[in-house]
Amino acid sequence: MKAVRLALCALCFVSAGLVDGSQKKAAPARAPALAPRPQIGATPPMGWNSWNYFKERVDDATVRAQADAMVASGMRDAGYVYVNIDDTWEGQRDAGGVLQPNNKFPDMKALADYVHSKGLKLGIYSSPGPKTCARYEGSYGHEEIDAQTWANWGIDYLKYDLCGLREMMRAAESPEAAHTMMIDAYIKMRDALKKTGRPMVYSLCQYGNDAVWQWGESVGGNLWRTTGDITDRYAKMAEIGFSQAGLAQYAKPGHWNDPDMLEVGNGGMNADEYRTHMSLWAILAAPLLAGNDLTKMTPETIALLTNKEVIAIDQDPAGKQGDRVWAEGPKEIWTRPLAGGAKALGLFNRHHAPLPMQADFARLGFSGAVKVRDVWAAKDLGQMTAPYKATVPGHGVVLLRVSK
Ligand code: GAL
Repeated sequence: MKAVRLALCALCFVSAGLVDGSQKKAAPARAPALAPRPQIGATPPMGWNSWNYFKERVDDATVRAQADAMVASGMRDAGYVYVNIDDTWEGQRDAGGVLQPNNKFPDMKALADYVHSKGLKLGIYSSPGPKTCARYEGSYGHEEIDAQTWANWGIDYLKYDLCGLREMMRAAESPEAAHTMMIDAYIKMRDALKKTGRPMVYSLCQYGNDAVWQWGESVGGNLWRTTGDITDRYAKMAEIGFSQAGLAQYAKPGHWNDPDMLEVGNGGMNADEYRTHMSLWAILAAPLLAGNDLTKMTPETIALLTNKEVIAIDQDPAGKQGDRVWAEGPKEIWTRPLAGGAKALGLFNRHHAPLPMQADFARLGFSGAVKVRDVWAAKDLGQMTAPYKATVPGHGVVLLRVSK
């Protein structure tokens, strides 16, 4: 399956996919002038998640400190909003079945109030199985009561991680029965969340199995993980990021492919590698969930995470995911159609040493002269007709914004 996707996309040139005004339906003549309801996840969610850096060490004080740092560092103003608690917050159920946080989180409602007071939103984590991946209490058989508990606390985002249910799926009669069990579990929580009346982003985490991109939206997913876990290594990040070719057609406002959280700032990659990470995720219209300790960021890490032009590509209002349009050995070109007919263009070098690359704008769907901007260099390169040539650093990228 993956091989087919790769073969198809390494050869093809995707069409421009310009935003087409004709798709917009005219409002009925005498419709009342209601303000449009903001759609959950209209652009890929941005925020922070505790797992990549803190794992089971996350607690109330950590979450408050991350919220503070998200504001102080300028991340909130750059668009990062969700402060997401991952696994290991769960305690025991009380006599009424209500799940309590463990002693790392003395008062979730107070924590949510604190996070909200900073202009941020709070996310939480659970599993459709009896246990989570870290063997804490899951939501199996308690979906409605858990959703209501989260709504009562003021939770805005749920990551629902398959783990514990996998053990039950293994005991199913057939792969089809196991698949149905999983789909039903995600639908059950979708409905439970809906019943609370509180809008919550619904993030599916089942590692991309059973081509989740084909059915994630139908079970209510605002985003769905497309891969296994990322680590803070170039090889893993690149394996995940560059394997996303062919998935663009499944992403749209409200429903996104999720190649996992960011590792920027965790120290295992160099600046070129982290620029590749950010650029690729932006072209992929991926959620930008920082996974580092926001209280200990170097100016370089803050600059990587808050680069306005890179974020603008990720959050482009047209909501179209990009794709690979050309590959030769370790060199890959990816493009993303942007609102107004512009394109983001990433020239990626997966080799460890610098390599010359070039982008032929005519072959990328442009006719005549184009306006080119080097995004990371924050530099206008002027009007071009001839192919653009650059030496791309090892494991690095040149990210361009190209317009007529
Ligand atoms: C994994 C998941 C990670 C993290 C972890 C927590 O299954 O992919 O992102 O949530 O569980 O136990």
